Amino acid sequence: MDYITLSNNMVMPKLGFGVFQTPDGKKTEDAVKWALEAGYRQIDTAMIYGNEGSVGKAMEESGVQREDIFLTTKLWNEDIRRGNTMQAFEDSLKRLRTDYLDLYLIHWPADGFEKAWIDMEKIYTSGKAKAIGVSNFQPRHLEAIEKIASNRPTVNQIESNPYFNNQDVIDYCNARGISVTVWSPLGGTGGNILEDAVLRELSEKYKKSPAQVVIKWHLQRDVVVIPKSLHQNRIIDNFNVFDFALSKEDMEQINKLNRNTRSGADPDTFDF
Ligand SMILES: NC(=O)c1ccc[n+]([C@@H]2O[C@H](COP(=O)([O-])OP(=O)(O)OC[C@H]3O[C@@H](n4cnc5c(N)ncnc54)[C@H](OP(=O)(O)O)[C@@H]3O)[C@@H](O)[C@H]2O)c1
Repeated sequence: MDYITLSNNMVMPKLGFGVFQTPDGKKTEDAVKWALEAGYRQIDTAMIYGNEGSVGKAMEESGVQREDIFLTTKLWNEDIRRGNTMQAFEDSLKRLRTDYLDLYLIHWPADGFEKAWIDMEKIYTSGKAKAIGVSNFQPRHLEAIEKIASNRPTVNQIESNPYFNNQDVIDYCNARGISVTVWSPLGGTGGNILEDAVLRELSEKYKKSPAQVVIKWHLQRDVVVIPKSLHQNRIIDNFNVFDFALSKEDMEQINKLNRNTRSGADPDTFDF
């Protein structure tokens, strides 16, 4: 496993497991248990995914110690708009069957995110979240936080994949000591990135699947990556990426696949 050190000195596994669109109940429980069994030690969920309860149950039943898991969840937009950060945080903890989070994120820059950040700082000071951060923040949103914050966000979780590498925002964050986690790293559910001819060629060259090649590309760009799957074989394969390295030229080939096309919502125009 590779790790990064966040600006508050917390250590975060660079490869984690995401559970967006993973239905609550047995599917999420199995997926999280398989991930922990395969060696993942970072789980990424959110209140809005509706599966925090299953994530908590699976973690508890997995036999892996809570302190060995880096657990992230996110504050939803309605709670940001309603100024309900403190209660939403406590509700997430309860569903997750834990008394602390490793990382709590503002999910989107919804109206009221500045006030939510002040409350996030209170949660951080209480020790109940070991790190706090944001998601889907553009530089202008980060600048707004900068004006009012005692602590910079440790993490910005944003969309990035070979067709939308989002490198400008990654560079902006890195220059300010904000670590980046990338969502929909494989292009998201329903995407077609893994069929790309260049990735297929590299897959043959390295004897690794296109998904493994893409995950390695992210790791070598020094971002945290959280692929999702409901299939045990894919969950295992996606973790099996620490025994090869992409050459500089091949990293460059993948960089060139960028089309600036998002697979998810745009933080400048989202309407939910
Ligand atoms: N902060 C945010 O706003 C935000 C937004 C979106 C996502 N996220 C986080 O990022 C995580 C990952 O993003 P994502 O779930 O959107 O998409 P993703 O991880 O890029 O892709 C998931 C899709 O790829 C398939 N897949 C996974 N491994 C594969 C493999 N080895 N070979 C072929 N197909 C494979 C999955 O299918 P199967 O499941 O059928 O295997 C699923 O359809 C989420 O789960 C969530 O934790 C955050």
